[in-house]
Amino acid sequence: MCPPEHFTVEYAINPWMDTTVAVDAARALTQWESLRTTLVNLGHLVHVLDARPGLPDMVYSANGAFSVDGTVYGARFLYPQRADEATAHQAFYDTDSSWKFVAPVHVNEGEGDFAYLPAAYGGIVLAGYGFRTDPAAHAEAQEVLGRPVISLRLVDPAFYHLDTALAALDDRHVTYYPAAFSAASQRVLAQLFPDAVLADRADAEAFGLNLVSDGRHVILNTDAVGMGRKVRDAGYQPVHVDLSELKRGGGSVKCAVAELRA
Ligand code: ARG
Repeated sequence: MCPPEHFTVEYAINPWMDTTVAVDAARALTQWESLRTTLVNLGHLVHVLDARPGLPDMVYSANGAFSVDGTVYGARFLYPQRADEATAHQAFYDTDSSWKFVAPVHVNEGEGDFAYLPAAYGGIVLAGYGFRTDPAAHAEAQEVLGRPVISLRLVDPAFYHLDTALAALDDRHVTYYPAAFSAASQRVLAQLFPDAVLADRADAEAFGLNLVSDGRHVILNTDAVGMGRKVRDAGYQPVHVDLSELKRGGGSVKCAVAELRA
């Protein structure tokens, strides 16, 4: 995670960002801290990356890389405003030689557009494209990580990253909002995950899919009341955290957490 110490909305690269509305920096930091504390209290180890001035979106640390079983596929951001974040993430992995870091050739926004299901079909990667990540990066990720990569086309600009439209609930189960995907990609998801928890537009707009799950607890935004109910009905324990300020940049819980799959 990376604290929102330099968080602002000074450019708009997704439909949620409104540069005319000021963010409450102190509030953003308090909310972020409550997410960090929630994860720690649930028994998780959280590393904190230093925020850098001039990188207002760095709080969305999920975009900085994608790791599977100790191999890290680095990010390459689509927009120049975020380009330098990739270097900060690479430096984190480079300080620990147990990670194998691979620099990308193609544009990809890390866990924003990649999800990993270790117990589905022997371990598969789900990958989004259509707004940020170049589909060429899907093939590149497959070569780097040695796992099948399933390409899914995102079609609604409000859900511009895969992690705004789909989430892993545990090692094999997913939840997603079907209409965020092309008809063909919906068909693919229905075939691979017949038992998925389906979200609706209100769930997705409340950033209810932008969740982090440890397989038991599902941490999600406070606005996502309906989604909380759905995951509870599916046997998980919802834990709500208020991240209203981070929503102004177009992100929530998942965007703020880069998962480290050592
Ligand atoms: N303002 C950021 C952007 O548009 C938000 C990133 C959200 N992160 C995520 N993992 N979806 O790039």
